[in-house]
Amino acid sequence: MRARNQSNRFAALLLCTCSLATALGCASDEQPVAEETYVALSEISDAELPLSTLALPVALADDSTLSAGDYRGVVLLGGKAGLFKQSGSTEVEQLDSEAVVAITHDPGAGARSEKVIIARAHRFETYDGELLLSPLYAYLSGGGDVTAVAPAAQSEGRFDGLWVAATSGLYRLVGDEVERFEAVRSASAVSAIAGAGRAVVRDMKSVATALRLEKDGWAMRALPTSEQGAPASATAIVPTRDGGYLAHAGGELFVRREADKTRPARWLPLRIKPDADGNEQAKVQRVAPDASTGSVWVITDDELYRFDGGSKALRVARPQGFGASVAAHVSSDGTLWLSDGKLVARIGEREVVTYAKDVKPWLAARCTSCHEPGGPAPIALDNYDSAKDNIARAIELVTRQEMPPSGGEDATLLRLWRDGGYRK
Ligand code: HEC
Repeated sequence: MRARNQSNRFAALLLCTCSLATALGCASDEQPVAEETYVALSEISDAELPLSTLALPVALADDSTLSAGDYRGVVLLGGKAGLFKQSGSTEVEQLDSEAVVAITHDPGAGARSEKVIIARAHRFETYDGELLLSPLYAYLSGGGDVTAVAPAAQSEGRFDGLWVAATSGLYRLVGDEVERFEAVRSASAVSAIAGAGRAVVRDMKSVATALRLEKDGWAMRALPTSEQGAPASATAIVPTRDGGYLAHAGGELFVRREADKTRPARWLPLRIKPDADGNEQAKVQRVAPDASTGSVWVITDDELYRFDGGSKALRVARPQGFGASVAAHVSSDGTLWLSDGKLVARIGEREVVTYAKDVKPWLAARCTSCHEPGGPAPIALDNYDSAKDNIARAIELVTRQEMPPSGGEDATLLRLWRDGGYRK
């Protein structure tokens, strides 16, 4: 698992102040305030993260719809063109051609091990080795088209609900309970971050509302984007770790700082790479929030930056061979996915099921007391080859609760090992 330093905070972004008023010769004695004109990142370190690429059988998505999830080494990819799956060393296969709105992890469970949820406009499915229809969509009382889904995480890596944006409004699903936010009539985008009980929702007219969990429930507040210096027609607005917001508009980034004693809340441009004069700005293509940690990935024309907090950002080279324009998505385990429609890159570590780490101890605890040479059972399951050779029958008997004879076991792990190509 990637180590993340939680003590770093977005709040420590270096503030560059510049006395514009003085420079323009219009400073007056009554208003000696030096205006902050932008926020810049002071420390950018280069990082190498594990990278792998997948070639797609058909164009997956346009450049704005990519969603991905990884269930113990089995990759699910979704976009306008439908749902795709890749397991083991096999190629990416297309499962269907119905558009996918979002892929995320099941709420109410750990980010790493639990089921993946696939949201479509009018239904949800789950995947934990098998693709099954989920009752979640039925909980949306008003129905409507689902437009966006975000995991609602109260603390890092712990998801305890699902934000669902739909043409009929905004919902929060926790287990089989649903909370409907009547004030939001229609929702086109929703994004949330870990550890803070915060989310941003936008409606069909792109009006943004901030939600914050308070003692007596979720408080809603308009998030103005029309005030001075604000990002007009933002393509994305996401909450940040320090209680503020990051917006992407017209190829640029803006941060919203909350009000304090000296100034009201407002938007300031965020400079990634200021030159000596503090002017240069790499053009930003996409912003992809990592709901599990509150980090935000920013994809520029030639680089990738992960803002982890503080004044620091991590810079990762953009993978080779990708088209100019990419779609981006961060799955619930913190992996960044990029796609130009034909290729998909995954950046980050992955968890896969292996014989040594998972399957051997699983069988040893449940099966090999009988299934070993000289034991009462006809086959041995105490080594790699015999486990692999007997996997189909083992999955079948475990699923039917016939093996072990005491029953009560689940064949998910065995299925994932098989689907993942019997990794040693
Ligand atoms: C208490 C002893 C015991 C345990 C524990 C046990 N088995 Fe069995 N298993 C047997 C016996 C005895 C048979 C053969 C008789 C039968 O088919 O009912 C068998 C048969 C099987 C077969 C069919 C073998 C063939 O003939 O093709 C499979 C596969 C199997 N077990 C898998 C498992 C798995 C997987 C586990 C653990 C999750 C497990 N068993 C746990 C005793 C056990």
